[in-house]
Amino acid sequence: MAGELDTRTRGRTARGRLRALDAYLCQSESALLTRREGAWARAVFVDVGFGEHPWTTLESATAFRALNPELSVVGVELEAERAHAAARAHSDARTHFREGGFVLPLAPEEPARLVRAMNLLRQGPLERIPEAHRAMSRHLLPGGLLVEGSSDTDGAVLVAHLLRRTPEAEAPAREGLLFHTDFSRGFAPLLLRDWLPRDLRRRVRPSEPLHAFFQAWESAWKAARAEGHTAPPEAFAESVLRLARMTPGVAPDAWLLTHGFLRWSPPGGIPP
Ligand SMILES: C[S@@+](CC[C@H](N)C(=O)[O-])C[C@H]1O[C@@H](n2cnc3c(N)ncnc32)[C@H](O)[C@@H]1O
Repeated sequence: MAGELDTRTRGRTARGRLRALDAYLCQSESALLTRREGAWARAVFVDVGFGEHPWTTLESATAFRALNPELSVVGVELEAERAHAAARAHSDARTHFREGGFVLPLAPEEPARLVRAMNLLRQGPLERIPEAHRAMSRHLLPGGLLVEGSSDTDGAVLVAHLLRRTPEAEAPAREGLLFHTDFSRGFAPLLLRDWLPRDLRRRVRPSEPLHAFFQAWESAWKAARAEGHTAPPEAFAESVLRLARMTPGVAPDAWLLTHGFLRWSPPGGIPP
């Protein structure tokens, strides 16, 4: 059921669109996906706004259950008919589909370990975004993660907030930004700027930290190309290595680099 935070949107999705994000989460958040102590044994993965068909929810369920076969998964949709159709066709003992919005349709004793909301905060008032982040984090156990962002239609370019629930605060910590490209569109830092989560799109202005970040990445990329790293995967990896030397919080991790990921977790978090 739509609450006052929710805005109706189209349901376009595609198989494989969020597969790279699944791979990232399996690689970098395997401890989160597999924790079993105390309330973590019951902690679910929630996919908010799965779209016209629940392909991305089902693909994530398969990927995450390779690490944690007992994992329960809840697909949530604002559009009742989409939720009911998915439930009829795809639910089982550990896979559920429910109608709902940012105030997640979970029982009070149903904790979450991971909440994903991709490609749905594109409309609606900008000032509601922190409230939507807070609402979607409410069921996360401390240490749990909310991933909210945007991608192009086939997931070739994706940027997402990594928001971590802490024991102290109701609002999740803005831990980092995750950038991904599969290089099918080539590579330049500006390609990723175009897919920033909605609350950050207008923040790439002089004097904003995000502007300085993109300027530094752009110079690192130009320097990498000038030294002969012109193929997109190489130019990307080399640019991130250079960026990491001058920008705190850039992870020069080999797996991330070879899979087209840049994670930026500046000290103090992503500015609101
Ligand atoms: C563009 S589709 C995205 C589907 C999928 N997440 C993806 O990334 O491919 C957005 C879906 O989110 C749903 N939606 C929009 N706002 C929502 C909200 N507040 N809560 C739950 N679902 C929402 C829409 O009904 C739509 O089906």
